Amino acid sequence: MSTSVAVQHEPVMVSEVVSGLNVRAGGRYVDCTVGAGGHALAIMAAAAPGGSLLGIDRDPAALKRAGETLAAYAADVHLVEGSYADVAEICAEIEYAPVHGVLIDAGLSSLQLEDAERGFSFQREGPLDMRFSPDQEVTAEQIVNEYERDALADVLKRYGEESKARAIARRIVERRPILTTTELAKVIQEAVGGRARRQSHPATRTFQALRIAVNQELLSLDAALPQAYGLLGDFGRLVVLAYHSLEDRIVKEFIRRESRDCLCPPKQPICTCDHKAGLRPVGRKPIKPNDDEVATNPRSRSAHLRVAERLPAEGAERLPAAEGPAAGPAMTI
Ligand SMILES: C[S@@+](CC[C@H](N)C(=O)[O-])C[C@H]1O[C@@H](n2cnc3c(N)ncnc32)[C@H](O)[C@@H]1O
Repeated sequence: MSTSVAVQHEPVMVSEVVSGLNVRAGGRYVDCTVGAGGHALAIMAAAAPGGSLLGIDRDPAALKRAGETLAAYAADVHLVEGSYADVAEICAEIEYAPVHGVLIDAGLSSLQLEDAERGFSFQREGPLDMRFSPDQEVTAEQIVNEYERDALADVLKRYGEESKARAIARRIVERRPILTTTELAKVIQEAVGGRARRQSHPATRTFQALRIAVNQELLSLDAALPQAYGLLGDFGRLVVLAYHSLEDRIVKEFIRRESRDCLCPPKQPICTCDHKAGLRPVGRKPIKPNDDEVATNPRSRSAHLRVAERLPAEGAERLPAAEGPAAGPAMTI
């Protein structure tokens, strides 16, 4: 079954996601970022018969699209508008735990990027919005026009890792008010001038930083990971796709931490933390898309996929619904 949908969002590393989740017939899965439903569709196809999925997204337009994509599985799919930062509460409301797998495909979809009115792209003229949900209060326009210069530079540096953050912030403050994406892109170009020789457009990092700040993306990821872990049954899988180093670092650190039996400082002779490892990293390095995928879906080029498995309680067996053969090729571990 094809997993691509109209005004395309091409899901990234679909077969790696399905095998990372170890999808089985009858399994229960949470897709924290259901988007256009491409990954969810592949999960449902592999979890048939008897599989189910809870799909979450902050963006009502994405949920509408996911509903269309997943129409054939409507009876076994539950879609919820909300933030994955609240995934434990969302699952508790419908008593959907423990589960066999949780997926987070972070960031934004092509549907959002290509909709000029959402203001995510410096290549399309539109308002400086960048909110995933229309219910959010803060827009990119407010950050660009209301933050003090140093605070703005801090956002660009921290979330965009922009080396010219100060120069860009200074020029933005001089040129206020800035109301559209293309106006902002022009101001950034002026600030960076001919000095920077970059592979990507000079506005790329600033736009990434604003989007992360508007949507509090790193805080959401930080909040969601322990909740996702708590939802997993024995041998359940956590799969996260990250698209930049800031996100990937959070995922890597989380998995590393939860894979250790003790978190006391290395020089402390006796453990006092009582922390117990509850996860096992599946694979030592993140999985990256192959050259063919990058050629056909350039958005995938920065993707890092990490997988971890919930360690079972002593003597535990796999969750009963996870019967039948695992779908897709076995993961290289
Ligand atoms: C990369 S896209 C997911 C695409 C999806 N995997 C697919 O196959 O179509 C990321 C999605 O996550 C959503 N999102 C971002 N942050 C979120 C959050 N904190 N809670 C819920 N959804 C979020 C975005 O609205 C977007 O639709």
